Amino acid sequence: MKKWEISVIPGDGIGIEVMPEATRVLDRLAEIHGGIAFSYREYPWSCEYYLEHGVMMPEDGLKQLEQSDAVFLGAVGNPKLVADHISLWGLLVNIRRGFEQVINVRPAKQMKGIASPLVNPKEFDFIVVRENSEGEYSEVGGRIHSGEDEMAIQNAVFTRKGITRAMDYAFELAKTRRGHVTSATKSNGIVHSMPFWDEVFQDVSKRYEDIQTQSVHIDALSAFLVSKPHTFDVIVASNLFGDILTDIGASIMGSIGIAPAANININGKYPSMFEPVHGSAPDIVGQGIANPIGQIWTGKMMLDHLGERELGTLLLDTIEEVLQDGIKTPDIGGTASTIEVTDHIFNKLNCGHSWCQAPSV
Ligand code: NAD
Ligand code: IPM
Ligand code: MN
Repeated sequence: MKKWEISVIPGDGIGIEVMPEATRVLDRLAEIHGGIAFSYREYPWSCEYYLEHGVMMPEDGLKQLEQSDAVFLGAVGNPKLVADHISLWGLLVNIRRGFEQVINVRPAKQMKGIASPLVNPKEFDFIVVRENSEGEYSEVGGRIHSGEDEMAIQNAVFTRKGITRAMDYAFELAKTRRGHVTSATKSNGIVHSMPFWDEVFQDVSKRYEDIQTQSVHIDALSAFLVSKPHTFDVIVASNLFGDILTDIGASIMGSIGIAPAANININGKYPSMFEPVHGSAPDIVGQGIANPIGQIWTGKMMLDHLGERELGTLLLDTIEEVLQDGIKTPDIGGTASTIEVTDHIFNKLNCGHSWCQAPSV
């Protein structure tokens, strides 16, 4: 029996509501498989934890997570209790950086059973590869002066190494898909980093002769994700551009509540972290209506990463079947609760593979 050790951080807000739903679905899949099991170690790191301990995670927090096969995270942030730049930087960003999770992979595709807010979209299926360690999210800058001279300065840091590894990841991914990479740029603005970004894109693309490429300005690209999302395959973007594009991707799928994400450690030194695109959704917390699909689909990305691809495919197919049955939370036009949606996924999970025995439900 293969046992996967998963560090679980539910975090704040709806993170606490959707995490147990995702882990019980994963346990169900393990039961169906018969040859694997998940062992969860849960960490209470959150804004509540901060109020008690003065830190978002203990000093040896990364050490505690380091031995696990993956980190599974819900959402962080409760701006009423703790400022976002303290809670997010102290936990989510700290793990991304500490574990060198330099790539953030975020798929968006038209899902069966959910109406996109776009009118008659052609079937779209793209993946944003977001540079996850530098760029506009650099730690260089701060607030200076006071009074009427007060200002904040942010220096974006783009390294050839950082850009190249994100682009390589995107090109390798495109090889396994439709063979097309779009680079999100803004080299027409007064943004010094972007002509450099374009230059690296040109250099990297020379190593992938079979892949088609295009560079599109971020403002136009945002519009194209709404007007013609079906024309994109893999999109490579800087940290902030990727952050924004992936909320658009989530939204054209139907809701930010369904979009998954994976923070990948590409050198295999540390665990990768799986967390949905959405945040802690303070506006709906406690109502039992948070869409669990973002967290559950994120679980599929974790399964894929662990090499359990057949289970991952089974899970995504099952999610779509449940959506087609009309079992949906209010954000995608339904009336079901978080738990009801998960119950349907759970009960529908069955296995067509010869190598596993599905216990009857
Ligand atoms: P958000 O994603 O939490 O919410 C945006 C909107 O989407 C809200 O109306 C919310 O109700 C809705 N929504 C989000 N997830 C949903 C779900 N699963 N089901 C149904 N509706 C859902 O973004 P925000 O309001 O900008 O941020 C709230 C807090 O979360 C802040 O503290 C922010 O910093 C934090 N945040 C954390 C992460 C993360 O941990 N990865 C990501 C984004 C935002
Ligand atoms: C995301 C979030 C985070 C980001 C924030 C909360 C730090 O928006 O994961 O998309 O900008 O990376
Ligand atoms: Mn975001």
